Order: sequence, then structure tokens, then C-alpha cells
Amino acid sequence: MAARIFVTWPIEPEARAILERAGPVETSPTEQELPEAELARRVADVEAIVPMGAHSVSASIIGAAPRLRVIAVAAVGYNLIDVAAATRRSILVTNTPGVLTETTADMAWGLLLAVARRIPEGDRFVRAGRWSGVTWSLLLGRDVHGATLGIVGLGRIGKAIARRAQGFGMRVLYHSRHPDPEADAMGVAYRTKTDLLREADFVVLAVPLTADTRHLIGEAELRLMKPTAVLVNIARGPVVDEAALARALREGRLAGAGLDVFEDEPRVHPGLVELEQVVLTPHVGSASRATRLAMATRAVENCLAALEGQRPADLVNPEAWRGP
Ligand code: NAP
Ligand code: GLV
Repeated sequence: MAARIFVTWPIEPEARAILERAGPVETSPTEQELPEAELARRVADVEAIVPMGAHSVSASIIGAAPRLRVIAVAAVGYNLIDVAAATRRSILVTNTPGVLTETTADMAWGLLLAVARRIPEGDRFVRAGRWSGVTWSLLLGRDVHGATLGIVGLGRIGKAIARRAQGFGMRVLYHSRHPDPEADAMGVAYRTKTDLLREADFVVLAVPLTADTRHLIGEAELRLMKPTAVLVNIARGPVVDEAALARALREGRLAGAGLDVFEDEPRVHPGLVELEQVVLTPHVGSASRATRLAMATRAVENCLAALEGQRPADLVNPEAWRGP
């Protein structure tokens, strides 16, 4: 019997066509997350859910879907999925690593440059009609070339960020839980978190959100950073204590921040919104047309494999795999 599949957003037609090989596909009428009761109703008799990365699949949703066999997330980060609850029922969970790496690294660099060279401030200044001529000290920023970049999380995206730093002649440091075997060849030096935060002029966060990385950057860590330093977060909002960050910026203990992700999306801490030296983007790190299609395609390929009894390429809970 054909499997029934629910996709939590109006998926691209090319990706939907792949899924339809497995069975009838129902998509959410909206890109907004559905209320939990509505989602529970829609997944009651499905075998697969394909959520976009910003949509949750909680234990209660899993409980409301007795026939569920696979949750194929269209994102690399799967912190909004209750993987433990899925694993208890041998439901496979997959993600989309790799296909969004370069696009997200581009975004990290966009934020870094925007804060360092005050690009959004300049844009606001010109549009407001405040520009009356070139002056010597107008919108002085910070040099990126030759500075020290600290990357927390030298994984796929962290490495792509590091590769781009070579073009800017930067010294690059990293911190992860384990020393990376490729780091030496890349010219990237390991530091403890403390030393990295003390030395770096720009700190970029590229870790997953886990119990260990929640508030990885809090009051104590911000106090280690140089008052001239800039923090960029393209990882997940709760990796940073936003209230502590807003305080550090307001008190001049940190020069600026570029944030694509927030602790309680789409809410943004009001103390950050009011600061000129903060650049905010609405969780669009992987949002290029080509990459979104690649993510959707990868997610549906994982979904199809699971429904056909094959081990999906991007299985995040191998302990749930019971074989073909
Ligand atoms: P990845 O290849 O798994 O890299 C994650 C890195 O984080 C690894 O180097 C890992 O190294 C390190 N890490 C994990 N826990 C750590 C800890 N407690 N302390 C220090 N380092 C730690 O993942 P990726 O593909 O680069 O993606 C990273 C994250 O970026 C995703 O999980 C997602 O949340 C986020 N992301 C955001 C966007 C966006 O739109 N803003 C887009 C894509 C991805 P060790 O295991 O050695 O510690
Ligand atoms: C996006 O945030 C992702 O994790 O892919």
C-alpha cells in the first residue's frame, strides 16, 4: 500500500515529484509552523513527515502519528525534533548535511563584513538623507584583513568559513571538543574556548544546538572577549545568552554582533534591536534558491529511501535502524 506523507511547507514541485513516487503527498498550505493540534490532525495516518528545519516535531506529535516511520528534516540542524521519542518507536530521523554548507558560510561572512564595515548603518544613513558629503571620520569600521578569526565548531560550515578567511589574510583559530585532523593542513590552530575568546577579533559560532552548547557563550565568556571584538552567530540562537550579549554590547564590552539566529525565534531580544552595532537577519543562513532546492531534494531522497526499506544516507539515529 502506498505511504502517506506530510510536508510541513509548500515544497518545491521538483522535490514533491520525487516524493510522489512513494505515495500521496499532503503539504501544509503555509510556510508558517502549524499549531500543534492542527499538525497532530494532519499526521494522524501518515508514514512520513518532512519538516522544514524551523518546524518542531515533538513527542506528542510523534505520539499522534501511530503509522510514522520516518521524519526527514530539510535542514542540517535537527534540534526541534524529539529524536529520543522517535528512536523509542524505531522511527528514522534524517537531516541534510553538506548541501547548505557553502551558502551558510557565505552568510556568516556577510554578517561579519556587515558589522565590521558598518554596512547596514551606512545604508540607513544614506536612505535617511543624512549624508551631506564625505568626511574623514564617517562610519569608521574595523579591518577584517589581517585580523584574527576564531571559529567555534570547525565542522562542515566552520571549515567553509575558515577557507574564506584565507583570502582575507587572517590568522584563524578554532575550538571544538576534539582536535580536527584537517586543521593543520588548513593552517587553522586549535585553542581552548577561553584562549580563542581572548585572542580573536571576530568569533563565529558554527556548532549544533545540544545540551552542551546551550549558552556556550554567556556572561563569563563575553567577559573574556576583547572590547573591540565582534560575535557572529549562524548556529542556533540558544548557543548565546542574548540578555548577556545585549548587556555586553550596551556596556561597550563588545564592539558588535551579527546574528542570524535567536533564542526564541521569531522574537528578538529588544536590547539587541535597539543597538546600531548589531546586524540582524531572520534565520536565512541557507536561504539561496539553489540551496533550498538542494535541501528539499536531499530531504525527500532520505524520506523515499526510508519508505522503500533502505537505510537513508543521512540517518541521525542509526540505533533506530532495524535493517531492510
Ligand atoms: P557539523 O559538521 O556537525 O559541525 C559542528 C561542529 O561543532 C563540529 O566541528 C563539532 O566538533 C563542533 N561541536 C559540537 N559540539 C561542540 C561543543 N560542545 N563545543 C565545541 N564544539 C562543538 O555541522 P555543520 O553542518 O557545520 O552545521 C553546524 C550547525 O550550524 C548546525 O547544526 C545548525 O544548527 C547550524 N546551521 C545554521 C544555519 C542557518 O540558517 N543559520 C544553516 C545551516 C546550519 P566536535 O564534535 O569535535 O566538538
Ligand atoms: C538551518 O538552520 C539548518 O540547520 O539547516
